[in-house]
Amino acid sequence: MRFAPYPVGDRSVGQRTYADPMDAFGPDPAGLQHALDRLLETGDTAVAEALPTRVPTVGMGSTAALDRLAPLLLDGARDLGAPGFFAHMDPPTPWVTWAVHQWTASRNQNLLHPDTAPTARDIEQTVIDWLAPFFGMDGGHMTPGSTIANLTALWAAREAGALTVVATADSHLSVRKAAHILGLEYREVTWTNPGELVDAVAVITAGHTGSGHIEPLNAASGARWRHVDAAWAGPLRLSERHSKALDGIDGADSVAVSAHKWLFQPKESALVLFARTEEAHRSVAMDGAYLAVPNVGVLGSHGAVAAPLAATIMAYGVDGIASWIDRSMEIADALHQRIVDSTVLEARTTPQSGVVNWRRTDVTVEETVSSLPPSVFVSTTNIDGERWLRSVAANPLADPDLVFQTIEANP
Ligand SMILES: Cc1ncc(COP(=O)(O)O)c(C=O)c1O
Repeated sequence: MRFAPYPVGDRSVGQRTYADPMDAFGPDPAGLQHALDRLLETGDTAVAEALPTRVPTVGMGSTAALDRLAPLLLDGARDLGAPGFFAHMDPPTPWVTWAVHQWTASRNQNLLHPDTAPTARDIEQTVIDWLAPFFGMDGGHMTPGSTIANLTALWAAREAGALTVVATADSHLSVRKAAHILGLEYREVTWTNPGELVDAVAVITAGHTGSGHIEPLNAASGARWRHVDAAWAGPLRLSERHSKALDGIDGADSVAVSAHKWLFQPKESALVLFARTEEAHRSVAMDGAYLAVPNVGVLGSHGAVAAPLAATIMAYGVDGIASWIDRSMEIADALHQRIVDSTVLEARTTPQSGVVNWRRTDVTVEETVSSLPPSVFVSTTNIDGERWLRSVAANPLADPDLVFQTIEANP
């Protein structure tokens, strides 16, 4: 215990004595070991009990709280690394990130203040320095997702004089959201006929959310600012085999990449990168009387989200991450090929970035989804007014045969 006992009142109710709140800052090795044991338990061992409906005024103690939450948070969670999980852009995470996430929670560094995070700020800067060159950018910072990365980039674009956001109909909703927040006009365009661009920030999407399609990265050459939303497909840049799919990205003024998608990070982790970072950061920074350094970007207090990413890159290297991406692409191609060869299924297009859109020809997409056993997941989407199933290769452990055979066999 780090603190001397402090009078916190009677913590006994009936026969039970409850935890002294001042013990919370422990650490309690037995309690942490118990948390680890629960984490490593497999199978649905415990019956999930809902959380108390009324706010607890007296605590049940840390171990009891963990035991109450474990069935919900662990057993109750989808296994994103299961062979039948091939549905969303959410990947399984390397175990080393679980450990580092716990470390960062224990130290609770605030990167807003250099004195409370003397080393965590350097770790973030190092990770940015490692990754920015893959995209032809010279720096940037971490954000909790690409929604915030897009908002930050469009904010910098606005400070550079952009008045209008132009993007295609398939761009992510976060682009419209950012335009709305920033008070910028939003105009939907096609890249073959984008109209006047002099006062525009053009958002080019590398990996549509619904289809994985990568828009031409040299589009909108006359725009005041060119932002590439590479939330999904950006990490292809790390793969020697697939990097070419993003050729041209280094001509952008800014790039958003979600690390909690194809960089296999726990949420909430993404990067906003800039071609001219010093200038861009200056344009989205504010001073505050209580701050030792300017607050850059949308967030105020923020944590060491770069640390699990640093651990992943150090543990497995860029080549290791690329191997997970390559494997995911192979799985998508394998599934696509089986669909093309099938007589009852149809595929929309050849997948460009690991997203397969497909459906049965004899029943609706909804009927297919409701016929699936709990072990197999797909998601759904609308593309050009049509319903499609959507299988996203964010899970390098997925089994395309299992997914294919289950869908083919279950009308
Ligand atoms: C193309 C694209 N942009 C932006 C986002 C938003 O990213 P996040 O969910 O990390 O906020 C997504 C999410 O799926 C996306 O697919």
